[in-house]
Amino acid sequence: MPTLAPIDPERFKVYLKLVFGALGGAMTSAMIYLGDRMGLYRSLAEAGAATSVELAARTGLQERWLREWLQQQGAAGILDYLGEGRFELSPEGIAVLAEENHPANGAGYFSQLPQVIGIAERLPESFQTGLGLPYDAMGPEGARSVERGLAPWFRALLVPLALPRIAGVVAMLEAGIEVADVGCGAGAALLTMAKAFPNSRFHGYDISQHALVRAEANRTEAGLGNAKFHDSLVDPLPEDGRFGFVTSFDCLHDMTDPGGVIRSIRRSIRGDGVWFVADIKALPSYEQNVAKNPMAAMMYGTSVLTCMSSALSEPGGLGLGTLGLHTDLARKLAEDAGFTRFESLDLGHPVNAFYVVRP
Ligand SMILES: C[S@@+](CC[C@H](N)C(=O)[O-])C[C@H]1O[C@@H](n2cnc3c(N)ncnc32)[C@H](O)[C@@H]1O
Repeated sequence: MPTLAPIDPERFKVYLKLVFGALGGAMTSAMIYLGDRMGLYRSLAEAGAATSVELAARTGLQERWLREWLQQQGAAGILDYLGEGRFELSPEGIAVLAEENHPANGAGYFSQLPQVIGIAERLPESFQTGLGLPYDAMGPEGARSVERGLAPWFRALLVPLALPRIAGVVAMLEAGIEVADVGCGAGAALLTMAKAFPNSRFHGYDISQHALVRAEANRTEAGLGNAKFHDSLVDPLPEDGRFGFVTSFDCLHDMTDPGGVIRSIRRSIRGDGVWFVADIKALPSYEQNVAKNPMAAMMYGTSVLTCMSSALSEPGGLGLGTLGLHTDLARKLAEDAGFTRFESLDLGHPVNAFYVVRP
């Protein structure tokens, strides 16, 4: 052990607060996971503020456990404490944690916590070998959680807000075209479009078996005959210029070979077709990301646990990770693949940048 440099007592206090604040955040995240999983936020949203006794009566769960959970959530500021043992979920809390279809709903991100944190057990090996783990390493719950995390915005705003901002696309979709969503996950975006545009045919491509199983179940439940899902590893995107519209949402930075996939998209798209991309609003340097993005620490952590790991899950993977695909790089990859027009579209999304790319 090297001799310790003198410790500044004030900075020491601040540092301890920082480190144990992070542990506090982990505990609060675990409590959010439980509240979401057991329907406690939904109960507080639907039936209003409650004491632990009232919440126990509503849910059939044990009062003592609920009391400790409520107290934790009050202490963390997730619930408002009204006095006399009564806790409330604010309207903002209802939007973020209880209302599944609100575009800002984020409860889904907590639903894979056990799997994501569990992955950390396997990562010392990745730090040695360099090889990461694909999305399927997080099991079926991982696919469900990605879907819950990303779907609310796309279900609520893709058709009414985003598509009308892309010149010509709504008219093409209404007339009837072939559409592909590459990296479709559980198909939320694709199925939302398939429902809105019955004259067009929709094809989702992904390599995650768990996501594809969910996608097919979602398709069946929605009763949509104009959508189909494909395992890219055995049934790849046809490179014959058939698609009028191709989308890739929150997935290029997760891919081992985004350049190869973009070249394939270029070959699959019609001369008058459009490629619509959503990816994280990343900036070109670490310094810029840390200065401009208040969620940078969370995102770099997510990258190690999921995104970069996925992007390094094959030998030679590019390994971009959560904050790796900034606009200049997206433009360069598109141009290298033969696209000639690239424009950014500001849709007011808190996390994502959007690009409209044309041959
Ligand atoms: C963060 S998820 C996003 C899924 C979906 N777009 C959504 O919005 O829910 C990233 C997805 O990219 C998929 N993926 C990674 N590499 C891929 C590849 N080479 N081809 C197709 N999909 C890929 C993963 O399996 C995962 O489902």
